[in-house]
Amino acid sequence: MRLTFYGHSCFAVEAGGKKILFDPFISGNPLAAHINIEKIEADYLLLSHGHQDHILDAESIAKRTGAKVISNYEIVMWFAAKGISNYHPMNIGGMLKQDFGQIYYVNAVHSSGLPDGSYGGNPGGFVIRAEQKFYFAGDTALTLDMQLVAEHHQLDFAVLPIGDNFTMGVDDAIRCCELINCNRIVGVHYNTFPYIAIDVEEAKNKFRDAGKELFLPAIGETIEL
Ligand code: NI
Ligand code: MN
Repeated sequence: MRLTFYGHSCFAVEAGGKKILFDPFISGNPLAAHINIEKIEADYLLLSHGHQDHILDAESIAKRTGAKVISNYEIVMWFAAKGISNYHPMNIGGMLKQDFGQIYYVNAVHSSGLPDGSYGGNPGGFVIRAEQKFYFAGDTALTLDMQLVAEHHQLDFAVLPIGDNFTMGVDDAIRCCELINCNRIVGVHYNTFPYIAIDVEEAKNKFRDAGKELFLPAIGETIEL
């Protein structure tokens, strides 16, 4: 499966011939200044939670591409009120079948307020089942709920936050690998802001010493997983 990283927690995968974009935060990320948002294609736009650093460019991308916006009910309705008509609300524990495969919206331990102070429901992550199966944790603490992901899904890879402070850091992301029974990790949500600055070499060493693969694609880079 091809995965393109757009910085922070934003990435896209291609599944079943469709492009699925997650948590777009590009125009507000100086590290992603070289990314041309207008060129990003999307058939589906999946939003883990309501924080600005996960939804900033969702409205413009959804309106330009017509991508279907999928998130929790409160977030989806917030975008519907902005004139987005292609959407599908979910909530934690739910599964949604689409043409490329299945989407599961799973628990995250975090918060989810929308930028204007609106209630953003509960934060979540996603499991996608298509040619490959993967887990995008969203913003979350390490939580035993992750064991349920491993019970239900044999993951090929996972996209996990590693920046600490607001989410799991490197050590908890490595513990998460055990809970989800998956050792191929794409690290996200680090180094965008001073609060989530990490020592990248140390992170790589810790994952290697734990026998896990850590992928840290450059912003704009596409990797094959
Ligand atoms: Ni957040
Ligand atoms: Mn965040």
